[in-house]
Formats: sequence, C-alpha cells, structure tokens
Amino acid sequence: MKLRLWPGSLAARTAFVLLVGLILVQGAGLTIHALDRLDVQRLGQARELAGRVVDLYRTMALTDPPRRAAVLAGLHHGPALVPALSASPPNVDLPEMPTPEQRLLRVNMNLFPLGGPNLRWREMVIYGGHFTHKAVIGMRLPDGEWLNVSAELQPLRPWHSPDFLVAFGLMTVTAAGLTLWSVRRLTAPVRTLAAAAEALGRDVNAAPLPENGPTEVAVAAVAFNTMAARIRRFVEDRTELLSAIGHDLRTPITRLKLRAEFVEDEEQRGKILADLEELEAMVSATLAFGRDARTTEPVSHLDLAELLRTILDEAGDACPDLLDKLNYEGPAHVTVQARSLSLKRVFVNLVANAVNYGGSARVRLVTRDPRMVTVEVEDDGPGIPPSELDRVFEPFHRGEPSRNRETGGVGLGLPIARNIMRAHGGDVVIANRPSGGAKATVTLPV
Ligand SMILES: Nc1ncnc2c1ncn2[C@@H]1O[C@H](COP(=O)(O)OP(=O)(O)O)[C@@H](O)[C@H]1O
Ligand SMILES: [Mg+2]
Repeated sequence: MKLRLWPGSLAARTAFVLLVGLILVQGAGLTIHALDRLDVQRLGQARELAGRVVDLYRTMALTDPPRRAAVLAGLHHGPALVPALSASPPNVDLPEMPTPEQRLLRVNMNLFPLGGPNLRWREMVIYGGHFTHKAVIGMRLPDGEWLNVSAELQPLRPWHSPDFLVAFGLMTVTAAGLTLWSVRRLTAPVRTLAAAAEALGRDVNAAPLPENGPTEVAVAAVAFNTMAARIRRFVEDRTELLSAIGHDLRTPITRLKLRAEFVEDEEQRGKILADLEELEAMVSATLAFGRDARTTEPVSHLDLAELLRTILDEAGDACPDLLDKLNYEGPAHVTVQARSLSLKRVFVNLVANAVNYGGSARVRLVTRDPRMVTVEVEDDGPGIPPSELDRVFEPFHRGEPSRNRETGGVGLGLPIARNIMRAHGGDVVIANRPSGGAKATVTLPV
C-alpha cells in the first residue's frame, strides 16, 4: 500500500509531499478558523441572552409579586424568548447545560448589575445548550417565585458567509497549481541533464547544454559540458595516437620490403614479403579506422530495413552462387536515427563474416522493444570456438582457420563494428547458435 502511494519520479514525489503538506496546513487552518468563529458566536450569544434574561429578572425582582404577571405580559422581550412565572423551577425535557457553556452564561449574567444585593437570585438552573438549540433558564426571585425563561439559540456556523468556502477552495487550488507548476519547472533541468547524458552516450559530439538558467542549473550544465569536452578530447587523443603510430609504421615497412628483395633464399623472401604485406594491410586498416573515427558524420534518419536489404543485394551480386543463402526477415521499413555510412560498415562487416566463415547470411530485424531495434545476423557455418568468443572483438584477432584463407580482412571488422555501435549507444555481441553456426546480435536504441 505504502509502495503504491509513493510515486516514482522526483517531480511526483516532491509534488506529493508538498500537496499533502498543503492539504494538512489548509485543513488545520480551516479548523482553527472555524473553532474560533464558533467560540466568538457562542460568546456573543451568551452575552446577548444574559443581558436580556437579567433585564427580565431585574424587572420582575423590582415588581410587586401580584403585579408581576401583568407587567411581564406587557414587556417587549423580542422573539425567541418565552418568559414565564411559576411556583417551581422549569420542568423541561432537557438535560442540564454542559458545564463550559453554562459557566459562560453564568459569568455573563453576573456581569450585569441588578440594582442591589438584595435583588440577587436565590437559585438558578440552566438546561439545554447549543446541541439542542435551546436554553431554559430558571431563576428563583428573592421572594421564592421562579422566573423561567426559555430561549431559542441560533445554530452556530463555522464560517459566516457561504462565499468563504468558495474563496478558501480557490485559494487552495491556486496554491496547488503553483506547487505543481514550480515542481515541474524545478525538476526540468534534471530531465534535460538526463537527456544530455543519454545523447552524449550515443554521440560524443552531441551539442553542449545551454549554460544559462538558475545558478545551480548553470553550474551543473558547465560541469557537464566540461566533462563532455574532456571525454571528447580523450577519444580524439587516442584516435590521433593510433593514426600517428600507423602512419609512422608505413615508412619502415616500405624500407623492409625493399630490403627483403635482397634476401637470397627465395622461400624466406616470399614469407617475409607475405608478412610485410599483412603488416601493411593492418596498418592501412588502422589508418582507415582512425580516419573514420575523426570524420564526424552527422546523425540522420535512415531506413534500416532498406539498408540491410541493399547490403544483402550487394553481397549477392558479389557471389551469385550464394544468392539463395542470403535472406532478410523483418518489416519492410524501419526508421532509425544513426550515421548511415558507419552503420553500413557495421552490417557489411557482419554479413561478410557470415558469408566468409559461415557460407550463408540470414539477417533478421526485430522491432518488438519500443526503445530498441535488434538486428541478428546468422549463418550455418562452424561457428566460433568457445575459447575464441571473448577474443573476436580484440583488434587484429583472427580465428586460426581464417588466417590461411583468402577471406576476410585483418581482424578489425568486429572491433570496428562494436566501436561504431557503442558510439550509437548500442552494442554488438556474438554467440554460437545451439543448432550450429554463429549469430551476431546488434542493438540500436531508437
Ligand atoms: N560468422 C562467423 N563464423 C565464424 N567465425 C567468425 C564469424 N565472424 C567472425 N568470426 C571470427 O572472428 C574473427 C574476427 O572477425 P573480424 O573482426 O571481422 O575480422 P576479419 O573478418 O578481418 O578476420 C574472424 O577472423 C573469424 O575467425
Ligand atoms: Mg570481418
């Protein structure tokens, strides 16, 4: 129950606490106001009633007993007040008035002068009270006769005008509205920051955050932008280092190739030249990778399904005898946001691997998860030895059989694919299928 009531987001939690607080404060305020109003009315009514009753009493006490009835009948005592003379105290079907209310009435009655101590009532009983809307006061005159006054009490109202509640409600609604608005406004920078972090995860070159707004927000934005710039510089430095090493290796390789020509043993010369050839290919691939990483292709909308079909078509054109072993499964069109050339490189690499090492390529595009598209590239080949599975993403790692083949490249295909997908906020993983063959799974957030 507690878990269900307690909302998840920072904005909802803050709003919840503030609104509950507002309701409590308004409730307490309304109660205090109403109780105070009731007290004021009780006091006013007691004072008024006391005045009128004491007036009647004094007149009766000053009048000769035989003339009292006639005088009483001639008195103006207003509506809602019924005095009567009697030989006995009032005989009514009402409980005695509660002590606090009775005390209030008695104190107020004692405040009015009677005209002399000998006029003081000998006894007084009070029945009823606000809960019965009626008060009956019996006073024994100095000579023993009773003056019994029955009075109607106005019901107490917790607030005076009916507009009060409307105004109070309006005030509460306005305060609640202001609370919700300011909570939304206050938590907006958190959402912006989260979105910026998310964007940075997909693209190190994402636009910086605006560094304005309230001080704390501006400070956070500056810190975030500084962090993004450092990450960017770090990545750039690494790529530059890679390119520089590749570049500097070219000259000695060329020199070695020239020198190798002087090796007399033909077999040895052939082997040395082949090794140098491989070394050169690796350096070229490294330089190409460095170049790619430095050119910042813009992110754009592209049709992933279309891209995958094109890649399969091109693979089919390259080796027509494989045509029926290349197929695509999935929706006809799926729009994603990505760098189109980089994404093409990823899938060209994966399809080429499937074709070269597995002899077939089945590409499946899955859009079940609304936040993620998944592309699976499967083949029916031998798969990857379990001991190699972790290492195929290492640069220049090639499986033992692929080294001797004419196929594939220098072992940079998978590391580059992973690099590109991670720069998009996605990933590439590779696994063996239970029924044989390898399966590369590419995820890309949408
Ligand atoms: N579908 C596959 N089936 C079997 N082995 C594979 C498959 N894909 C990749 N590999 C292995 O992983 C190694 C690394 O792949 P990759 O990085 O693309 O380099 P390259 O293709 O240049 O050798 C390959 O040499 C190969 O041994
Ligand atoms: Mg490859």
